[in-house]
Amino acid sequence: MKRSILAALGLATSLAVPVAAEDIKVGLLLPFSGVYAALGTEIETGFNLGLAQYGAETDVTFEIVREDTEVKPPVALGKAKKLILQDKADVLVGVVSSGVLSALRDMVHGAGVPLIVANAGNDEATGAACSPYITRMSFSNGQVNRPMGAWMAQQGIKKVFTLAPDYAAGHQMIGGFVDSFTAAGGEVVGQEFTPFQKTQDFGPYLAQAKASGADAVYVFYAGGEAISFVKQYDSFGMKADLPLYGSGFLTSPLYVNAQGEAAEGIITALHYAPTIDSGPNAAFVGAFIEETGRMPSEFAVHGYDAAHALIEAVKTGATDRATLATALRQVRFEGPRGALSVDPATNNLIQPIYVYETVAGEGGLTQKILAQLPAEADPINGCEMAPVSN
Ligand code: PHB
Repeated sequence: MKRSILAALGLATSLAVPVAAEDIKVGLLLPFSGVYAALGTEIETGFNLGLAQYGAETDVTFEIVREDTEVKPPVALGKAKKLILQDKADVLVGVVSSGVLSALRDMVHGAGVPLIVANAGNDEATGAACSPYITRMSFSNGQVNRPMGAWMAQQGIKKVFTLAPDYAAGHQMIGGFVDSFTAAGGEVVGQEFTPFQKTQDFGPYLAQAKASGADAVYVFYAGGEAISFVKQYDSFGMKADLPLYGSGFLTSPLYVNAQGEAAEGIITALHYAPTIDSGPNAAFVGAFIEETGRMPSEFAVHGYDAAHALIEAVKTGATDRATLATALRQVRFEGPRGALSVDPATNNLIQPIYVYETVAGEGGLTQKILAQLPAEADPINGCEMAPVSN
């Protein structure tokens, strides 16, 4: 078995094989505890699968050092410092929360270490705070929500109430939606931002939404908060009168079965659904099911595509922080979600967005794709891309 595959399976450190000079050390920065713990584990599973699959295309060995960021910016900063200074990682992969990404930005940029973002959508990271060392293989918060504003207005929805957790991602996801919804003639009749990682009872917010005169509710929630929000929305008996829409993290395949019937009929938009009908997606879904026995989510794809991007960069001959950073910005490939390329103006991905409804299927809940919206690039958002300098 190739050494790169062994490394991907976590066996590198137990091998008696001497580490070759070209070996690459990957610092994996993910939440393995807290409200986004399941997301972190899913990204890691996708990353290891991608490394095992595409690693066969190179002889380079990847050594992985994993650290738990929790969902706490100061904790993540300490872990990133360790990976950069002590472990001397050649490349960092991960980060789930927008708050964590904005806390890490200056350290990563200052140290000149490439970071492949495998989730966090913080708009500034590929906008005003962009860096040639930060390449995003996931999405930006505005990017996944903007198309849904216009799409919902086209469906005849006129008045919306919005809800999201009170932190960067919540504000930016809702902001992207509201901009395009109001530009298309829609009206926002009320908004609330719920205390992040603290709200257990959404009742008071649901009562406000019900009394607002809205035609629909649009939300961003993810992880543990998405499970409790969707269940409470249903048990309040709101779904029939006030249809629920949102960004697709709300009904991620990662936890939609924990939501159960409460998730049926919710319509959301995202850059990935496991029901996308394409050859590369069928291959990915098959490999993921073989590995885990279940359907992959968008989080698994972020990890898988981050590994694919890393291998593509390595195949150009990149071996150290600077050459990896330069090569990562230029990757393009066909992945499970469609044709991907990195926008050189921002280092954010350009990718299609899918509108899907969660429906009952033969083996549980599934994603019925209602529309594929054209590939979305972010506006430059104040990004002035510096050159790689070391
Ligand atoms: C974020 O904080 O950027 C974030 C977290 C979870 C998601 C999406 C975005 O599912």
